[in-house]
Amino acid sequence: MVVVPIVSSKGGVGKTTITANLCAELVRRGRQVLAIDLDPQNALRFHLANDPDTCESGLVEAATGLMPWARAMQPAHGGVILLPFGTVDDERQIAFEQQLAQYPGWLGDTLARFALPPDTLVLLDTPPGPSVYMQQALRAAHFSVVSVLSDAGSFATLPIIERMVDKYCRTRADYMGTGYVVNQVDPGKRLNHDVFEVLRARLRGDLLGVLHLDQAVPEALASAEPVQRYAPMSQATQDFSSCTERMLGRIAAAAQAPLSPRSLESTR
Ligand SMILES: Nc1ncnc2c1ncn2[C@@H]1O[C@H](COP(=O)(O)OP(=O)(O)OP(=O)(O)O)[C@@H](O)[C@H]1O
Ligand SMILES: [Mg+2]
Repeated sequence: MVVVPIVSSKGGVGKTTITANLCAELVRRGRQVLAIDLDPQNALRFHLANDPDTCESGLVEAATGLMPWARAMQPAHGGVILLPFGTVDDERQIAFEQQLAQYPGWLGDTLARFALPPDTLVLLDTPPGPSVYMQQALRAAHFSVVSVLSDAGSFATLPIIERMVDKYCRTRADYMGTGYVVNQVDPGKRLNHDVFEVLRARLRGDLLGVLHLDQAVPEALASAEPVQRYAPMSQATQDFSSCTERMLGRIAAAAQAPLSPRSLESTR
């Protein structure tokens, strides 16, 4: 089992889109995928669920003993198994967050108890910025995907996410590394292009790839399906495929390397 949270320091930078479309590409390649929505927005369902209306219950019900885990998970696009966050009122959300704060390793321990097939990839959609959800996700992570936009704001907030990854992941012997996806790249816009070049120089070997600004992405969301199904020939479909390829390559390379804190093996 390889646990892969998709994280960012800023909101609205494409985490849910990336989570859903990496899942879709991974199952297309024959991988077993569990997609967990760790974000109270409960939005991953709009990309992946066969019927988003059936995602009112999920992670929170199961975690609080109100529903068996097997019933909280449901088959979704292409064979992805989806565990939605569920639609939760403010009191239950706060109680759940207190539970997470009291037991910081809860997610990792719970996933270990699922005894998933060893080649399963568990992708986690997270809310933006530091939160109990991001802490849980990074503590459980084997490989992290960071989404950034090609703009000055994303560049300026990179250190926030780098500090979080350093704190919860880098010193762990089972941590395989961090990959960055630069989203909404638009080569036709001068500033966007210039910031992308700065990001590329900064991220070097940790850059998984780019997602171009592509109208097929919001259109796919509007029709409640992954981009590869909505627009298989689009630039975005090609970009998600390249990012998936590189992520799997990084994970495979790390799995073959001798166990040691990955902090000693920076690809930069
Ligand atoms: N490459 C892209 N091209 C065009 N639109 C995009 C692209 N990536 C994401 N979007 C659009 O940007 C919006 C935000 O994306 P998304 O919801 O995935 O971000 P997020 O990081 O999950 O947001 P939040 O922090 O609120 O969870 C969506 O409307 C999505 O369709
Ligand atoms: Mg999101």
